[in-house]
Amino acid sequence: MHKLVCAALFLLLSLSWSKPVITSPSGGPRYKSIFSFGNSFADTGNNPVVFGWYSVFDPVTRPPYGTTFFSRPTDRNGDGRLIIDFIAENLGLPYAPPTLAHNGSFRRGANFAVGAATALDAGFFHERDIPGGSSKFPLNTSLGVQLEWFESMKPTLCRTARECKNFLRRSLFLVGEFGVNDYHFSFQRKTVQEVRSFVPHVVATISMAIERLIKHGARMLVVPGVIPSGCSPPILTKFAGTPPAAYDSKPGCLTAHNEVGLHHNALLQAALGKLRAKHRNVKIIYADFFGPIMDMVESPHKFGFEEDVLMVCCGGPGRYGMNSTVPCGDAAATRCRDPSARLYWDGVHLTEVANRHVADVWLGVINSFTGVSTKQGAK
Ligand SMILES: *[C@@H]1O[C@H](CO)[C@@H](O)[C@H](O)[C@H]1NC(C)=O
Ligand SMILES: *[C@@H]1O[C@H](CO)[C@@H](O)[C@H](O)[C@H]1NC(C)=O
Ligand SMILES: *[C@@H]1O[C@H](CO)[C@@H](O)[C@H](O)[C@H]1NC(C)=O
Repeated sequence: MHKLVCAALFLLLSLSWSKPVITSPSGGPRYKSIFSFGNSFADTGNNPVVFGWYSVFDPVTRPPYGTTFFSRPTDRNGDGRLIIDFIAENLGLPYAPPTLAHNGSFRRGANFAVGAATALDAGFFHERDIPGGSSKFPLNTSLGVQLEWFESMKPTLCRTARECKNFLRRSLFLVGEFGVNDYHFSFQRKTVQEVRSFVPHVVATISMAIERLIKHGARMLVVPGVIPSGCSPPILTKFAGTPPAAYDSKPGCLTAHNEVGLHHNALLQAALGKLRAKHRNVKIIYADFFGPIMDMVESPHKFGFEEDVLMVCCGGPGRYGMNSTVPCGDAAATRCRDPSARLYWDGVHLTEVANRHVADVWLGVINSFTGVSTKQGAK
């Protein structure tokens, strides 16, 4: 069970030929830097460091992680590039280095995201015995903790108030996705209705984090919503045996779990609207994570995916390819022949091709503020 929880919940190469560099009217790159906060969907290499602190098993350091693009495990939760990697490429920036695993400059980007991170502080869950048992999760890596890491780093990035203002105003801040781990840990122990009651608390925490970043000088923030958890293989596996009426008929997703995500995304968008009204000189972009995944789940053929779209590429025997005793990265795990024909890589995480699709959707919105075409030159 412990291995399943790990595998299920966790949640420089430069392609100069495929990256149009976005320039500002005065010339030079549009963004000087990317600062990223999040969980395994954005983590480019912090998780083995943190999991090491707690002696927690972490499969991502082993093959076949990284097989599609990097040809080796890069401590990312996927077979290749993540959404944030495609965003960095498109903006002409280096891949954002993981702050706990990189010994060098963070002037052109810093990635504070850690696999399994929650929006709410770990204490919220431990007080409620979530996920309970012998689990050490959630670890001390919440959004608030990641903000503290940013605040400790800030004096190394810029010195005077004026310098910081000029630097941070030209940096892109990715805040999330946050919420998926808060909900997935909670689903282990609480009813869907109880988990739903946590949503306003999670959204308020994200909203406060954005305020704090704006105070530091952030002027361009991208805030993703959550995924359709009811279509996510770890949730489908955990709740296998739920009566058929609880699933939607076509793709076979759990309706009630998806509804929690829709609720989160609605409250988050309302909160972002309030922040925009309050900070008129700040661009705050909502990035839809739910919609692009539902599109891929509902029309797999349109995206070149196999019919059984809820089946993971890498894992063990079982209906969704997920098995507590055989997680991806385990010697006994199997990998599908063609990861580009799958939506899900190892559970909650998407394959590189799916990440690319989500990134294209987000870049469409990000670049609509700069008036630049987002089409990448090469596939
Ligand atoms: C970081 O780099 C410096 C200078 O090269 C070196 O002295 C230090 O040991 C390195 N630290 C780590 C954690 O690798
Ligand atoms: C969590 O991490 C933060 C930042 O590194 C630290 O200040 C805090 O004391 C830690 N909390 C616990 C409970 O370990
Ligand atoms: C998980 O894998 C084990 C070992 O391969 C197998 O015996 C078991 O039936 C699998 N569980 C499911 C639910 O398929």
